[in-house]
Amino acid sequence: MHRFTFRNNELYCEQVRVADVAERIPTPFYLYSYSTLVDHYRKLKNAFSPIKPLICFSIKSNSNLAVVRALVKNGAGVDIVSGGELYRARLAGTDPKKIVYAGVGKKSHEIAEALRYGIFFFNVESEDELDEIQRVAASLGRTANIALRINPDVIPKTHSYIATGKGETKFGLDFETVHRIFNNRWKYPNLKIRGVHIHIGSQILDAAPFEKAIRKVLDFIRANGIDIDYFNIGGGLGIIYSIEHPQTARSFAKKILPMLKRSGLKIILEPGRFISGNSGIFVTSVVYTKRTPRKKFVIVDGAMNDLIRPSLYEAYHKIIPVKVDATSSKTSERVDVVGPICESGDFLGKERFLPQVRRGDMLAVMGAGAYGFSMSSNYNSRPRSAEAMVMGKNLYIIRRRESYKDLIRGESIPKVLK
Ligand SMILES: Cc1ncc(COP(=O)(O)O)c(C=O)c1O
Repeated sequence: MHRFTFRNNELYCEQVRVADVAERIPTPFYLYSYSTLVDHYRKLKNAFSPIKPLICFSIKSNSNLAVVRALVKNGAGVDIVSGGELYRARLAGTDPKKIVYAGVGKKSHEIAEALRYGIFFFNVESEDELDEIQRVAASLGRTANIALRINPDVIPKTHSYIATGKGETKFGLDFETVHRIFNNRWKYPNLKIRGVHIHIGSQILDAAPFEKAIRKVLDFIRANGIDIDYFNIGGGLGIIYSIEHPQTARSFAKKILPMLKRSGLKIILEPGRFISGNSGIFVTSVVYTKRTPRKKFVIVDGAMNDLIRPSLYEAYHKIIPVKVDATSSKTSERVDVVGPICESGDFLGKERFLPQVRRGDMLAVMGAGAYGFSMSSNYNSRPRSAEAMVMGKNLYIIRRRESYKDLIRGESIPKVLK
């Protein structure tokens, strides 16, 4: 459940009218509901309460400082994949003992920064990386907790770009390599290899692939007498964008809790989309409409640089008018909702039935809280949009819209060209 609802034919975020937000910040903008965000975190926390896992919000899904802080303040840890995300986690006041760090290409300086901050776990994805963490840890006189990321070679039913647990992807280590590393633990005096980690993909609607991956890993640990105390089962829980019927936190927990309890291991979860996805919308205004012999286009001021999921994955996001005209349902028509960017792939929705819209009308792209702003860019030299958060009846601007000056920050013209 999310807190974007219609009252008197107008869209509200909690108790704030979305149209009123647009009076304060120009479209396009992202708008987040604090209570939806925290509610989704609590849903998982409660569902897994019998084993009291550490829940590390995956901030790649939404890394705005206020969003991260909101969750951290409510007890969440953070899953990071870069030095930049560590920087954000620190600014959001995350307890270092609740930070886990994954990613296949951690650089030496990023490893050093994480070691100095005293993060909880490095989720290690290659033997080279293990050697490098050992080297950096030794040079700093530190010890690092390590979880080996296992690629369990399972096929989650999801888009191939967000399936990470298949053998042919770049992620994690195969079972044989993991076994060898455990046998050679002595080679890494500054590392405590205390855990294993999996993350099999994203937007997974059904518990079956998770169960399969978890069972495979637990069987492997048992069969080889591997001595660890942590199992990070990753993120990946799917959400409703359109007509999906994803598992709920409770039904997911019901399926996997017995296995996890039997393992006796301490559990870490790394959800991103489940917490942030339906907590945010992207609001955009109609700039023009245009009819061609084949189609009608609604050209809006938001584009693929703001929300790339439709262009990148052909992802579906529901698009609805922010104000519903009581008579409009009679005049709905099939349109493509497109942005101003010079690419045919620049669309937010294709073949959508929308009530007739006019210049200046506002549309809400739903389920845009995860992998929305965090994947945005300046393509076509478009300043990135503002982000705002509603808490009850209060509105907070949590990132101002970028200016033209922001676009060229760090750029310079060599003297020879002047
Ligand atoms: C290692 C890792 N953990 C967690 C996540 C979060 O995934 P999701 O947003 O689907 O929960 C990701 C996403 O790519 C990831 O790579």
